[in-house]
Amino acid sequence: RSQPLLYRSSFHFQPPKNWMNDPNGPMYYKGFYHIFYQYNPGGAVWGNLTWGHAVSRDLVHWRDLEPALKPDQWYDNGGVWSGSVTICPDGSPIILYTGVADDLEQSQNIAVPEDLSDPFLRRWVKNPENPVLRHPVGIDKEDFRDPTTAWQVDDGSWRILIGAKMERDGMALLYKSRDLRHWELDENVLHTVPDSGMWECLDFFPIAPFGREAFDTSINGPNVKHVLKVSFFDDKHDHYAVGTYNLSTESFSPINPALDIQHGLHYDYGKFYASKSFYDPVKKRRIVWGWSNESDSEAQDIAKGWASLQAIPRSLWLDTALGDNLIQAPVEEVDGLRGSKVSQTYVNMEAGSVVKIDGSSGGQLDIEVTFEYPYISKTLTIEDNGHQNEPFDCGNGGSAQRGLYGPFGLLVLTDDAFQEQTAVFFYISQDTDHHWVTHFCSDQSRSSLLPDLDTTVFWSDVRVLPTENFLSLRVLVDHSIVESFVQGGRMAITSRVYPKEAVDDQAHVFLFNNGTTPIKVRSINVWQMQSINVIPLV
Ligand code: FRU
Repeated sequence: RSQPLLYRSSFHFQPPKNWMNDPNGPMYYKGFYHIFYQYNPGGAVWGNLTWGHAVSRDLVHWRDLEPALKPDQWYDNGGVWSGSVTICPDGSPIILYTGVADDLEQSQNIAVPEDLSDPFLRRWVKNPENPVLRHPVGIDKEDFRDPTTAWQVDDGSWRILIGAKMERDGMALLYKSRDLRHWELDENVLHTVPDSGMWECLDFFPIAPFGREAFDTSINGPNVKHVLKVSFFDDKHDHYAVGTYNLSTESFSPINPALDIQHGLHYDYGKFYASKSFYDPVKKRRIVWGWSNESDSEAQDIAKGWASLQAIPRSLWLDTALGDNLIQAPVEEVDGLRGSKVSQTYVNMEAGSVVKIDGSSGGQLDIEVTFEYPYISKTLTIEDNGHQNEPFDCGNGGSAQRGLYGPFGLLVLTDDAFQEQTAVFFYISQDTDHHWVTHFCSDQSRSSLLPDLDTTVFWSDVRVLPTENFLSLRVLVDHSIVESFVQGGRMAITSRVYPKEAVDDQAHVFLFNNGTTPIKVRSINVWQMQSINVIPLV
């Protein structure tokens, strides 16, 4: 395959060509899932933003349609930027999006379908009263964007959030409406964090205290928790906090203040940004889409003729054992793409060993592996266990480090000579209080022999309960994307890689243990994944 085709995904969504960024307005309507996306019809770099549009019956096979919204009004001539869909009580969808004017003013605007009987909803009509919201006093005209899906409260009125900043303080501005068309700024901001920079692409939704069944966006009540997600412009990560939404004070407070939005949890510690969720009424689940940008250069994107993928849509539910953490898992429809499988059970990984998983070649894989948690107490300190260890920094040495417990994990997209290897792995080390902490890393530093790639190593802690005597990992490999879901989906890391040699039948999977202690693998399953083709508009 030629270079431009080599790195295209086989089962992740991307348009047939050109630039894409944020997912916009995902929804379900009349038998079809819809995804809109920030799209440049003119090339493989950011600019001229329109709302690209694709539909699917199963969230896996997509048909790309003509853009739903283009810049053609004074208030959006500079770009049709991100926004959301709200399903009205009569079942009709309404788009709220940010328009950028020639003078760069950001305003909020409405569009509705021209023909509600068309399940594809190909044509959208902009509201003659646009813009429906201009930036408030104190907020710069360039810091006011990305309206959320609206939710309805007890008295029948609606709320939305809009991302903003005042000086350096990021905030979620709260607006109220009786009819979804005329909006008023509330005197309270839902949430704000000093010095956090611009808040982009907010998401705010209820979540059930137990189980996987999700709530539609307007549900609230004593047992309902809420998730606030903010895309931090400054660090390009999607931060979230689980908390409660107090209607009388119109505010959000995190359950665990130590995990408020600026500190704590990210949906993904790699390349996953500007995510947006929706409620799927068919399977009663909440699904989140996120944008995975390239790690190659702009020149390489232009040569490829395209840039960016959407990460696999993920089901979201509350991690009941922790209460303040979400679980993310690829939507179950992805399992339907699994083809032939190779499996091994009870593999002993001696210190310093590498084991090839025979029969698992190729760039399109779904891998599940479970390791025994090393026989150490998760609460004792290293000194109690009679060992010493080095302070951990995955960015410094990546998978080539040698510790007591790790690094151990998988090499994917790896050739037999190990010239190119992407390592996704665990490493257990002591924190400053000398307690054992489990880390998970995705090391791109040796993924490719090609020049001009961003090879930052991504990593974070994994929360492992004292009762969990295993470490689990699921990895989706799709040519240039490696998406890892750790400990049942408690944390995730997505990376983008561009191997030159380790492609197609030269790309293999290995288990490795670079630590000085043997590690036991309970089981590993590797499936070949079938390709989907995004069908372009004919
Ligand atoms: C996030 C973002 C949004 C904006 C859009 C423009 O990636 O910057 O805030 O609406 O992209 O493409």
